[in-house]
Amino acid sequence: MLAKLVYEVFSNHRSIRRYKSDPIPDGDLEIIMESARRAPTDATLHLWSAIRVKDRDKRRRIATLIGQEHVYEAAEFFVFTADLYRLKKLLEYRGEELGNVDFALLLFAAIDAAIAAENMAIMAEALGYGICFIGGVQNAAGEIIKLLGLPHRTYPLFGLTIGVPAENPRIRPRLPRSMLFHEDEYRDYSDDELSEAYRVMSSYSGRDWLRIIKRYAGKGGYFEDRNKVIPELLKMQGFNL
Ligand SMILES: Cc1cc2nc3c(=O)[nH]c(=O)nc-3n(C[C@H](O)[C@H](O)[C@H](O)COP(=O)(O)O)c2cc1C
Repeated sequence: MLAKLVYEVFSNHRSIRRYKSDPIPDGDLEIIMESARRAPTDATLHLWSAIRVKDRDKRRRIATLIGQEHVYEAAEFFVFTADLYRLKKLLEYRGEELGNVDFALLLFAAIDAAIAAENMAIMAEALGYGICFIGGVQNAAGEIIKLLGLPHRTYPLFGLTIGVPAENPRIRPRLPRSMLFHEDEYRDYSDDELSEAYRVMSSYSGRDWLRIIKRYAGKGGYFEDRNKVIPELLKMQGFNL
C-alpha cells in the first residue's frame, strides 16, 4: 500500500513553474526539510548545504539574474551548494586538515546534494506541492555566490522551488527504460532505438527534441559557456582541482 503511494508520487511528477502566492505552513516545511536531512550521505560527510532564500529582494535579484520568474513567485526557494567548507571546519576544529580531496569530493558533493534535494522534492510533492529544480543558477553563479555569502570551498549547484501549484501541466515523456538500463554490460544503441528516442521525446510538444538537446549540449549550446565559467568560479571559491 505504501509502495503504491510512493510510486504514485514518482509517476505524477511534473515540474511546476507557476505558483499561487499561498505560503507553505511551518509544519509542512519542517517535514520537507527534515526529509533532506535524512538523505543518505557519502561516508556521513554531509557534503551539501542548502540556503533557504527568504529575503524577497534577494529572491527578486536571483529570479531576474537568471530570467526565471517562478524563482520569485514560489513560496520557497532553496539553493543547494556543494559544501566542503563545513567539513574543513570540522577537521580543523579537531586539529586535522582537509586532504587533497577537492575534485573527488566535489563529485560526491553533487551526488549528496542531489539526493537530499530529491528527498525534499518528493516529500513536497507527496504533500501536494509543486517543485522545480533550477539549474539556471549556473547562469549567475558568480553573483549568487556573493549574494548568499557563500564561503570558500562551497559552490551553488542548483536551486529548488516549492509552492502551491497554479498550473497542471501534462506529464512529460522520458526515454524508454531499455535505453536507460543496461544488463551486465553497457549495450550500444541501434539506429531504430535512437530514432524511437527522438519520437518519444518530441511527442510532448510536437517539436523536434533535437532543438532542446542541441540548445543545451550541442556546439554553441548553453553548457559550453558553463563549461568555461564553472571551473573559473570553483577556482575563485578556493577549490583545489
Ligand atoms: C538539474 C536540473 C536542473 C533544472 N533546471 C531547470 C531550470 O533552471 N528551470 C526550469 O524551469 N526547469 C529546470 N529543470 C526542470 C527540467 O526542465 C524538467 O525536469 C524536465 O524538462 C522534465 O520535465 P518534468 O520535470 O516536468 O518531468 C531542471 C531539472 C533538473 C533535474
